Amino acid sequence: MRVLGIETSCDETGVAIYDEERGLLANQLYTQIALHADYGGVVPELASRDHIRKTAPLIDAALKEAGLTAADIDGVAYTAGPGLIGALLVGSTIARSLAYAWNVPAIGIHHMEGHLLAPMLDSHRPDFPFLALLVSGGHTQLVKVEGVGQYQVIGESIDDAAGEAFDKTAKLLGLDYPGGAALARLASDGHAGRFAFPRPMTDRPGLDFSFSGLKTFAANTINKLVKQEGELSAQSKADIAYAFQEAVVDTLAIKCKRALQQTGYKRLVIAGGVSANQQLRENLAQMMKKLGGEVFYPPPQFCTDNGAMIAYAGMLRLAKGQHSGLALDIKPRWPMSELPAIEG
Ligand code: KG4
Ligand code: ZN
Repeated sequence: MRVLGIETSCDETGVAIYDEERGLLANQLYTQIALHADYGGVVPELASRDHIRKTAPLIDAALKEAGLTAADIDGVAYTAGPGLIGALLVGSTIARSLAYAWNVPAIGIHHMEGHLLAPMLDSHRPDFPFLALLVSGGHTQLVKVEGVGQYQVIGESIDDAAGEAFDKTAKLLGLDYPGGAALARLASDGHAGRFAFPRPMTDRPGLDFSFSGLKTFAANTINKLVKQEGELSAQSKADIAYAFQEAVVDTLAIKCKRALQQTGYKRLVIAGGVSANQQLRENLAQMMKKLGGEVFYPPPQFCTDNGAMIAYAGMLRLAKGQHSGLALDIKPRWPMSELPAIEG
């Protein structure tokens, strides 16, 4: 089975083709970051309009990259949620129309299932069951994964997502949106021990997260320093970035350890945009080594939004005979626990 996957839930247009036997045959990505940068965040209406412009050309490019024609495609997968409603509508309408025209099935995929399965695009893949830490711009979740579609969210953020906290703090430090990766680069020049940020919600039982306080802590630290130093020095910015990143990474690691103890699982998957963070990877790799377990990540280009993860999840479900109806069924909000399981 060969599946075309289309991702348009936020500010990346991703189109890919995944073949059940041969693996990934094409991967096309267009990022709208420059379009939204002036506004300091994603402008939903601009995102929808840009997806309209970019999706069809990317589909052509993906077919060309794979050396295929429309007749070679056995099914179409699209992100049906969660995400921006207008952006989701663009991808799902195009996907559904193509599937109808090509007389092949279509399936709506949960964006976070796409992230969660992205490590399967690597040669070093985890077996089920595993614990997944999903850390993106919109979500921070700990998920007990028993199989495809067998998901139990056992912890999540009660306010800002980890990526959102990175982006907001990056903005306070004068970095462009989305500043997560730039903040991480800045942190590599920072000194340990100058600032002590809190580890939110680690002093009480449970697996939920709260990251909005860290952004406020960063804002207060900056204000205090500005009063002392005037303009923030480059070193002060780097030191704040270091302390902030260390606090987020530590907090995520503490909760992962707790969740692993609770589930008894030995495999940890980290996915979503923040899983590209080097500090997080190193910290969790060390922790898993001590615990006698193993950690898995998606290849770097599949940590952030992409079409490959949607094509892959779609292939798994379509191959088992699942598909969506003709009506558009996008879900801007969509609990993962509602997904149907697939066998085998
Ligand atoms: O998964 P993703 O592409 O989009 C959503 O589904 O939200 O994640 C984007 C998020 C942004 O908040 C971005 O700043 C963050 O991932 N991010 C990072 C890094 N690379 C991307 N955060 C920290 N360190 C990084 N290296
Ligand atoms: Zn995402």
